[in-house]
Amino acid sequence: MASAKRLGILGSTGSIGVSTLDIVAAFPDQFEVVTLTAGNNLVRLEEQIRRFRPQMVAVLSEDGAKQLKQRLGDEAPQILSGIEGLVACATHAGIDMVVSAIVGAAGLVPTMSAIESGKDIALANKETLVTAGSLITEAVARHGVRLFPVDSEHSAIFQSLEGHRMDDVRRLILTASGGPFRNRPLEEMVDITPADALAHPNWSMGRKISIDSATMMNKGLEVIEARWLFDVPADRIAVHIHPQSIVHSLVEYIDGAVIAQLGIPDMKTPIAYALSHPNRLPLDLPALDLCSLRNLTFDDPDLERFPCLGLAYDALAMDGTAPAVLNAANEVAVDAFLNEEIAFLDIARIIGATLKGLKVKPLEHIDDVLRADLWGRREARRLIDSQAEGGQAC
Ligand SMILES: NC(=O)c1ccc[n+]([C@@H]2O[C@H](COP(=O)([O-])OP(=O)(O)OC[C@H]3O[C@@H](n4cnc5c(N)ncnc54)[C@H](OP(=O)(O)O)[C@@H]3O)[C@@H](O)[C@H]2O)c1
Repeated sequence: MASAKRLGILGSTGSIGVSTLDIVAAFPDQFEVVTLTAGNNLVRLEEQIRRFRPQMVAVLSEDGAKQLKQRLGDEAPQILSGIEGLVACATHAGIDMVVSAIVGAAGLVPTMSAIESGKDIALANKETLVTAGSLITEAVARHGVRLFPVDSEHSAIFQSLEGHRMDDVRRLILTASGGPFRNRPLEEMVDITPADALAHPNWSMGRKISIDSATMMNKGLEVIEARWLFDVPADRIAVHIHPQSIVHSLVEYIDGAVIAQLGIPDMKTPIAYALSHPNRLPLDLPALDLCSLRNLTFDDPDLERFPCLGLAYDALAMDGTAPAVLNAANEVAVDAFLNEEIAFLDIARIIGATLKGLKVKPLEHIDDVLRADLWGRREARRLIDSQAEGGQAC
């Protein structure tokens, strides 16, 4: 019998992290948890440590690490903090695969470190490829590691490509649910609240990705992610609105054949496939009952109501540091919206204005990404503050 795959899970306390641990718990012979990382949710991390007995964990702050040590007493594994702690958990010698499930650009450095230390990656943190796609794909090739997509759309494309030649691909088609405001007229989008935007119709996800889904920036980030994962240019990546979230994405071939992957909307399926590829795990999920689905519909996205999607294509065309700045501005704007500092429609305005002020530079090193990220955050913050002071932000 093959030995258990040894995992490091970055962001274990989040939505993807918890689903990953559910799979580990269901298949204890196949997976072993070696490292876990969290941000601030010490309560959940403590439960996970008691249950999965990792050798090493990391949290964001030194104070959090101290508290955790006190709470666990003799049961404490090695507990680290900060970016050094995240990197140590991502590069631990006893790991075969890293599940990259931190949210936002904070996932980039630990994921790159994992690649550079030869770990295979199950990638949920799309921001890694969005901000540093060319550097990541180059590092994956140089270190001979494998990068498996966790995002359901990219997992669907990955599965629809298996056994086929990339030369035969005409287009990738990403599906999008359209989020909670799919049918809302523009004039009624003015007073959308964070609570409205967090209520996704089909998927249960973390707060940031839920807002990204509501603005459709999530799909924009996914277009950039697909460009790097599959090495297909943006003009051959289409987005279709598919409110039922059953067809997770499709590949169109040069002979007109279209191959899709379908399933109920549950992240456990793509996570399990990334963990166990090429094998499939017998998950305890309801079967997809095609006959009970009366219709599956597809439509073009409305870029006037959802300008974030267009901004992502723009950033991809600008190339270099532009996608990292797009992502940074989006993170700051989403935070400001959740803190009720700006309105829903301001998110796209802030990102657009940030991109407008950017002098694009090429990406040669990860430091170029980190500098662009910092610049994008500061510029977006400046625009938000100037809007709050009654100035013309954008
Ligand atoms: N949820 C989904 O269905 C889904 C689907 C596809 C792709 N994704 C992608 O997967 C990633 C994770 O999404 P999620 O929904 O699981 O997010 P989430 O529920 O918000 O969880 C995020 C995780 O990252 C940790 N974290 C946050 N900020 C951090 C920082 N600065 N440093 C270190 N750790 C930090 C959080 O820790 P604490 O909670 O302990 O603070 C938590 O463990 C995102 O990139 C998202 O786009 C998610």
